[in-house]
Order: sequence, then structure tokens, then C-alpha cells
Amino acid sequence: MSEISLKLKLELAKKLVREAGDFLLAHLTDTVEITEKSRFDDLVTNLDKAVQMQVIAGIRAAYPDDYFLAEEDADSDNSSDVKHDILDGNVWVLDPIDGTTNFIVQRDDFAVMLAYYENGIGKIGVILDVIRGNLYWGDGQKSYKNDRQISLVQKPLRESLLGVNTYMYRTNVGGLLDLSFDTLGVRAVGSAGIDYVHILDGKIWGYFSNLSPWDYAAGSVLLAPFDFVTVQLDGSPLDFKGRQMMMSVPKNQLAIIADYQAKSNEKKK
Ligand code: IPD
Ligand code: CA
Ligand code: CA
Ligand code: CA
Repeated sequence: MSEISLKLKLELAKKLVREAGDFLLAHLTDTVEITEKSRFDDLVTNLDKAVQMQVIAGIRAAYPDDYFLAEEDADSDNSSDVKHDILDGNVWVLDPIDGTTNFIVQRDDFAVMLAYYENGIGKIGVILDVIRGNLYWGDGQKSYKNDRQISLVQKPLRESLLGVNTYMYRTNVGGLLDLSFDTLGVRAVGSAGIDYVHILDGKIWGYFSNLSPWDYAAGSVLLAPFDFVTVQLDGSPLDFKGRQMMMSVPKNQLAIIADYQAKSNEKKK
């Protein structure tokens, strides 16, 4: 796709995500309808669904032939496929509210995330920190926070915090607990999108979690200019299909992480 066409898609993505954020702010004090999905702590609200429908409709109107991979199931009035394989063709990847539990319980620390991939290659990533009103966006070459280009200075582990998934941290999956002892501490914010913007703001060194493609699609595009990789815990590529244990970390730190993993595997023996 030409640079100009991609630029138009990026502008549309930013506009739709901003509009989604405005919509959520307008409904922030509403009583929401909450539905359980797979279990009691896997929730969706009417606002997740409304944002998903709104964003997809906006993209479909401009790009009727593009595909979608979105978190929530399609409703009857929006019934075509929203679970397209990210590796196949021009695919928009949407997480309408990332941090639904935070949204329900705290009305804080949630994000709208939209990415665009061509045959599995990330071309556009957009994350809105809804409450703070900050829009992070990029094309894989450069990333911006609102109108300012982001520059990231990597700090040593011992001067940094880690973003973690609490289950993985507690159970020392991938040597994460061991690794944390050589940092200033860990933070578990409950929204992958907010963890990604914390990396981009230089607040955390990296992020370890158990995520689905819509949780990491935009973040991995936004981190690409800084030589971060979004990979499985052993450094191998993600399959972009189901939920996987993963990390987004500076590429030049993979060997150090592997060392921690080897040491913690030794201890388990
Ligand atoms: C969840 C959040 C959370 C992460 C979960 C995700 P959702 O997304 O990003 O931080 O730990 O794995 O499912 O369901 O609120 O969009
Ligand atoms: Ca969810
Ligand atoms: Ca999510
Ligand atoms: Ca979500």
C-alpha cells in the first residue's frame, strides 16, 4: 500500500479512536450493563460493544474490503466476521476498551487500542489513555504522544520498574519474580494499553503478560521504532492467534532475560 494511503488510514484510525474516547468520557458516570463471558472475572459491558460497533462502522464505511480482528463478538447488526486471521490481508485489530475491569471498578486506567496490519506486518498502532486524554500513535518508524515525537532512553534494570501480569509474577513464570529482584519493583496496572503507554513514557522498562493479539497489536507497532520486541517468553515469535504468555522488552536485553530464566529453571530442579 502506498505511503499516502497508509497516511489516510492512520488519520482515520486516530480520529475514530479519539471519537471512541470522547464517547466513553460522555458515558463515564452511566450505570453500565455488565455481562460475564468465560467466567466471573471476564467481563464485557454495553460500552465495550458500542465502541467496537462504532469504530468498525467508521472503518467499513471508508474501507469496505478490509478485515477485522476485534475482541468482542459481533452483534446481530454488525454480524460479519470480526475474528479474521491477522496474518491474512489488510486487517484492523481493535480492543474497544482495554482494561474493562478497571473501567467497571475504577473508571480509570483503560484504553482504546486500534492497529492495522498487512499480512501480519504492523503498519499502524494507536492507543488512547482515555482518562488522561493522551493519544499515542505511530507507523512502526516513528511514534508520537499527541503532537510530540517520542524518544525513549533505556535505563538499566536496577534503575527501572517492570510492568507485570500478577499471576505470572507470583508464580515466577519465565523467571519474572527472579528478574524483579534486580529492579526497583513491579507495577500491575490491569490494562495492557496503559502498560504500553507507560513504556513509551519511560515509566517501566518492559511488560510481561498473558495476552491476545488485540492486546499487543498496537503496542508492538508503537514500540518498533525503539528496537523493542514483542515475543514469547523464550524469545520466539508470537503466533498472533490465541492468548500467549509474552513480553515486550528491548531487543538488546533478550540475552539477559534468558539468563534469569535459565537460573530460575536451575533452582526449580
Ligand atoms: C485485559 C487487560 C489486562 C490483561 C488481560 C487482558 P481487557 O484486557 O489488558 O491488563 O492482563 O490479559 O485481557 O479484557 O480488559 O480488554
Ligand atoms: Ca476482555
Ligand atoms: Ca485487552
Ligand atoms: Ca477489551
